[in-house]
Amino acid sequence: GPCVKAHLKTIPPLCARVLLLCVKRFLEPFRLSQKTLQDISSRLTQDMIKGLGRHSHHKAPVKMLPTFVRATPDGTEKGDFLALDLGGTNFRVLHVRVNEDEKSVLKMDSEICAIPQEIMTGTGEQLFDHIAACLGTFLEKQGLKEQVLPLGFTFSFPCEQKEIDKSILIRWTKGFNCSGVEGRDVVQLLKEAVRRQGDYEIGTVAMVNDTVGTMMSCGYRDQSCEIGMIIGTGTNACYMEEMCNVKRVEGEGGRMCINTEWGGFGDDGSLRDIQTQFDLEVDRSSINPGVHIFEKMISGMYLGEIVRLLLVKMTEDKILFSGKVSEKLRTSGAFLTKFISEIEHGSFQRILSDLGLQWSTADLRAVHLICDTVSSRSAQLCAAALAAVANRIRTNRGLDHLDTTVGVDGTVFKKHPTAELRSMVHKLAPKCTLKFIVSEDGSGKGAAMVTAVAQRIASVSCLIKPHYATLFKH
Ligand code: GLC
Repeated sequence: GPCVKAHLKTIPPLCARVLLLCVKRFLEPFRLSQKTLQDISSRLTQDMIKGLGRHSHHKAPVKMLPTFVRATPDGTEKGDFLALDLGGTNFRVLHVRVNEDEKSVLKMDSEICAIPQEIMTGTGEQLFDHIAACLGTFLEKQGLKEQVLPLGFTFSFPCEQKEIDKSILIRWTKGFNCSGVEGRDVVQLLKEAVRRQGDYEIGTVAMVNDTVGTMMSCGYRDQSCEIGMIIGTGTNACYMEEMCNVKRVEGEGGRMCINTEWGGFGDDGSLRDIQTQFDLEVDRSSINPGVHIFEKMISGMYLGEIVRLLLVKMTEDKILFSGKVSEKLRTSGAFLTKFISEIEHGSFQRILSDLGLQWSTADLRAVHLICDTVSSRSAQLCAAALAAVANRIRTNRGLDHLDTTVGVDGTVFKKHPTAELRSMVHKLAPKCTLKFIVSEDGSGKGAAMVTAVAQRIASVSCLIKPHYATLFKH
């Protein structure tokens, strides 16, 4: 409006340049040199070893959880499956068909089912009743209530898995905090809730982390996909590890997919040197302080909040918006993570005015720079972590060079330029060539895939047990 224009004219160019310099100074702690990133990557490598160790895993911040997924798809899987997907932006129920002849995984139907805030932080029983009720309604609508279909449950939280269908929640992350679930078997809780509904049944259940689902859904297309990565509400990765290094599970042959839970990297203070005052603040005001430090520097649930805190501080210091902090900007959560990519793509006057702010051109440039810096740090940190995983696979196999595929999902990955992530991984892991496949609905289709592979293996292994180990594809 006119008042903005008038305001613009009052800022002389020199002043604007000084302002941008101040902003840059402020953002300095967010810029990480390649050397620092290399160092972060090595720290994660050390933590991964700690997480895998028989005696060190209890205290390990990076949990390296066995998933009991021992093989990626071989293309012979088939059948109809149900899938549940909890832990991303939405809770979803899906009906998936794996078609052997066409080598396709089809989403027949799916439905989003909102989880109200009071359920996210209510009791576990309420949560699972809600899930079972949503599933019931879905089956009713699809005319599937009389069938007993196997179910893949994508449950994207750290779980100590005992078997493919026994999975104990270690702790909630992201926005969830339901009582009475930590330390319990999630499959059991689901089955009990289904029983309480009383009017339908489910078949065998396979528990899947979203990273694993992502890897497996890409694996039907590209059988060299052995890393799954999520950069969405949270961040995490899984990869195929040599069984002989998985000390917590019996058996030496073949491989098993490990859910790294790299979001917990730094929970022992190991990232303290790169945490800014804003990262500390985001952690302090979260519902789980001290938990998932790495995730809080990277993922969608927190990036917007980091930017908001930066904006508030810089305005209070009279660097931005003529020193006027709006009421809205002071509200936690008011700056959504999706604003960052919108601002990076250039359209954002609207966002600022909705936040009740008045800006000059210099402010606009500054806001752009802030968003760029925060999202670029996120990409670089992910690159450092991914480089550690890729290098681990390479050294495990004694290779000079590793070619492999990464299945990726998550809004933060999909909405932001990925060139930076790719080029940084390349710099940090020069002996690895990574191909990225963006997973189409990995959590849904992947869960079905895991269930299908588990069934394939189970049907073979009960016939010829010793043959089991030779079933690994990689
Ligand atoms: C959190 C969860 C992890 C999940 C990730 C991405 O880090 O702990 O299990 O994979 O978010 O959704």
